[in-house]
Amino acid sequence: AGTAVRVTVHADQPGAVIHREIYGQFAEQLGRGIYGGIWVGEDSSIPNIRGYRKDVVDALKAIKVPVIRWPGGCFADQYDWHDGVGPRDQRPVRLNASWGGQENNHFGTHEFMDLAELIGAKTYLSINVGTGSPREMSQWIEYITADGDTSLARERRANGRDRPWRLDYIGIGNEMWGCGGSMRPQFYADVYRQYATFVHAPEHKPIIKIASGANADDVAWTDTVMSLAGSQIDAISLHNYTIPTGDWSHKGSATHFDEAQWMSTLQGALHMDELIARHSAVMDKYDPSKRVGLAVDEWGIWTDQEPGAGDAALFQQNSLRDAISAAITLDIFHAHADRVRMANIAQMVNVLQAMILTDKAKMVLTPTYYVFDLYKVFQDATSLPVDVQGATYRYGAVSVPGVHATAGRDAAGVVHVALVNLDPHHADTVQVRLDGLRASSVQGKLLTAPQMTSINTFDQPHEVQPTAFDGAKFGAGILTVALPSKSVVVLDIR
Ligand code: AHR
Repeated sequence: AGTAVRVTVHADQPGAVIHREIYGQFAEQLGRGIYGGIWVGEDSSIPNIRGYRKDVVDALKAIKVPVIRWPGGCFADQYDWHDGVGPRDQRPVRLNASWGGQENNHFGTHEFMDLAELIGAKTYLSINVGTGSPREMSQWIEYITADGDTSLARERRANGRDRPWRLDYIGIGNEMWGCGGSMRPQFYADVYRQYATFVHAPEHKPIIKIASGANADDVAWTDTVMSLAGSQIDAISLHNYTIPTGDWSHKGSATHFDEAQWMSTLQGALHMDELIARHSAVMDKYDPSKRVGLAVDEWGIWTDQEPGAGDAALFQQNSLRDAISAAITLDIFHAHADRVRMANIAQMVNVLQAMILTDKAKMVLTPTYYVFDLYKVFQDATSLPVDVQGATYRYGAVSVPGVHATAGRDAAGVVHVALVNLDPHHADTVQVRLDGLRASSVQGKLLTAPQMTSINTFDQPHEVQPTAFDGAKFGAGILTVALPSKSVVVLDIR
């Protein structure tokens, strides 16, 4: 950092479409992710739309959430969908065996499918394979999608929904190597094939089937499942969390960290590139035409729970570090848009690297939310390859690329370029060359904050939020950008 950095955008070599679904969210029944975070019920004094918090719904609409994955996670493989339909006051109360506390099932199938409709998102159900059965799965699908006069369609109507809903994706199990059933990949591949046989989608409304994929760098899992079941798989998942300390028993604080953990966290985010490349290379062996997608359906930073969060399981704050890390990860998804067809950050509200935090009637938008807001211009854009030269960020013995970049062209022809400065101390002068593009006007937005650890709180919600950016100028066909330290800049170029 500190010297001129050169970024080349190859606008003359358009790549794959950046599927909007990589901006997807994950919402699990745990902690205050659903209850209090999204669902407060119709009788709540918190302003709501048929039971959904109005402030949260409005915020989710504003970032154009394309798809939501529900009800888990580990929760999904112990979930009986029958528990979550019918009159709410008659629904059974169960232990939440995965995450503690009780589950009153007030948020069930109707509440989830209606939420997706309300915010305009596609639906992604995680099917119970660990303790469920193919019969339960196919009846759940019928309950949701059947148009005719079957008993399950009648039951759905009696429960208040006349028209079938659109079910877009199902995950056949979650983390089947772990909380989903501790299976070996050979066994799971057969279980996948069995379940896939009984997925009956309505005519002309295909349901995309996603196999439960690997944990992080376990390419052997991907290899075995692809080799034994690849022909019946539409997409296979990948889960990867960034743990700041690298130690699951003491993950590190979301708010009190030093530069060593800033660096280790960003290294964790950068690692996604290698992970996708390795899994995709294994998939290429069985699927060279890239018919099968990779769905990174759990990703994000996982820190220690926020002190004082009580029974709000997995509640963590969200700092500028989360924003930089999210931007890097989204850049990497763009670069692999030919294979990565969906991604779901963990998780949407009040859990892990959330978009939104709530406390009773209060709500705050996180730095990660603002990255999703700035980056929504990339949804369905055509990716444009980028090269970055001349930037290195060093801390101690570790060095990483100092500037990360991505580019895409939207349907209106506007080219969007995002630049991320990983260095917390040094600004960069970035010269952006736009090959194959005659452009003369640029507008931009900037996301940064005074400290690496800056956060938005309920009392100070505007510490980390986007501002207009006037540090980009055209001259002699080159765009020169004054990129502040520890920042994300998104430019619209015409
Ligand atoms: O997102 C929290 C948990 O992390 C999910 O339930 C599980 O799939 C993963 O291990």
